[in-house]
Amino acid sequence: MRIGRIHFVFRMSHYKCAVAGLLILTLSALAFYAQALKPKALFLTYQEAQPVLEALEEVLPPDLKGKSSKDLTAFWPTWISRRDAEIRGRLALGDEDSLVNLLLFGTSYTKQPRITIDEIVAIAQTANSSNESQAASSRALTILRARVDDLIQGLSAPGANERLLFGRQVLIQRTGYQPGTAAGHQRLRDYLLTSVSRVLKEQGSYAKALAAARSMGDPSEEFAERSRMYRNRGLSSDTSLLPNYGLEESLKALLSRGLIQPGSVKRIAVVGPGLDFTDKQEGFDFYPQQTIQPFAIIDSVLRLKLARSDALEVVTFDLSPRVNDHLERAKQRAQRGSSYVVQLPRDPNATWKPGAVQYWSQFGDQIGSATTPAAIPAGVSGLKVRAVSIRPAIVSRITPADLNIVLQHPELPAAERFDLIIATNILLYYDTFEQSLALLNVERMLRPGGFLLSNNALLELPFSRVHAVDYLTVVYSDRPDDGDHIVWYQRASD
Ligand SMILES: C[S@@+](CC[C@H](N)C(=O)[O-])C[C@H]1O[C@@H](n2cnc3c(N)ncnc32)[C@H](O)[C@@H]1O
Repeated sequence: MRIGRIHFVFRMSHYKCAVAGLLILTLSALAFYAQALKPKALFLTYQEAQPVLEALEEVLPPDLKGKSSKDLTAFWPTWISRRDAEIRGRLALGDEDSLVNLLLFGTSYTKQPRITIDEIVAIAQTANSSNESQAASSRALTILRARVDDLIQGLSAPGANERLLFGRQVLIQRTGYQPGTAAGHQRLRDYLLTSVSRVLKEQGSYAKALAAARSMGDPSEEFAERSRMYRNRGLSSDTSLLPNYGLEESLKALLSRGLIQPGSVKRIAVVGPGLDFTDKQEGFDFYPQQTIQPFAIIDSVLRLKLARSDALEVVTFDLSPRVNDHLERAKQRAQRGSSYVVQLPRDPNATWKPGAVQYWSQFGDQIGSATTPAAIPAGVSGLKVRAVSIRPAIVSRITPADLNIVLQHPELPAAERFDLIIATNILLYYDTFEQSLALLNVERMLRPGGFLLSNNALLELPFSRVHAVDYLTVVYSDRPDDGDHIVWYQRASD
């Protein structure tokens, strides 16, 4: 995120089961129990969505625009189920983007160096570039082509490498080509190079849109543009540690300003927890896929004494079966007594701010203990890694549920609404209309006085009961644009 001072007013004008005494729980009973805790997902009805449709008449999607209220009432159920399928369909393109990240940055299937951000920029600019950047680009292209061949080789014999198994499934599903054959290899090579070029092109268009927003000289406009920058992109699951540092700093500030009280957080929702696949900055593929945010938020609220570990429930809401299955399996393993290990890589060359290094150093001290980190592969130099083994009792507090936050909210009795909702790096995948629908859903999930923390600027329609109270800018490192504006949205009473 580009950090700039924001004049932050972005308005219209501008679960629970008491189960005692069960000594023996069979696996099927456990599965049933987990299921029983899951809130049911309800689609927004037309009556619920109507105020948003009316207020944003001008910017409605073409299939909703210009229809009378009577026509919309009849069409809404068709629209919402179709749109739900379309949004979920964006996961496939996001999976392909993850595969491109594995291709550029993975180390588990190749001895080629990771491709650096500068080299990616050089490849993208190659057509109209100087001799110097053409040389950088030609080196990067040689590495890229060797990586493509190594990846296809890896995909043809993935063994137990979960990322290669996933990549193989994604590619075969999308192309029908088999990596183990000569013809398949050739076709997959072309396909992967085209995917890289698509991703680079997309990155270029985001950079252009941001430059245009920046040139207006208004940081609020720029933040608003960033906040829906990925509206046409595939849905990525990638995640990293540092946004959680931004969240902890925000909670600290809320606490010191008396906006949130010690011991007041009992129920937390994490919308879009994500899965660390292979990210270009702090994500690597030399350790198992992992989720971080649900654990990070528990660690933070315990550290700040906002919650007690024996009176805390966390529900994660995601539409990705991969993310939900990962969390479900972690929970089931925890119920059998296994802890969950999180690997925390840090590249000292990335010059993290002292506060970020401090956050990294103490991460997990409330929820587990330090353990031996995964071995760093020979080709990755200078990296530091911590690992934390998270106690099964903490992992068991998390309940994953399927939900499309744009169109659905969980069926919750008033007493089970959330004290705190986290949604970082998710709402920027949607346009203003869909973000406004998401905010309607968040409103139904938050208790009066509860907070939504998000690193996106959301439009506040006049009838909304969720309002931005303030925001905190947290800078993560000396790299350009590395930080977040965390906006504190609070729900007013009914
Ligand atoms: C880029 S990841 C961000 C992960 C994490 N929140 C973070 O900040 O690192 C986005 C996550 O949101 C999920 N997601 C995207 N759209 C969603 C939607 N409409 N409803 C629920 N989850 C969604 C994705 O599947 C993914 O897990």
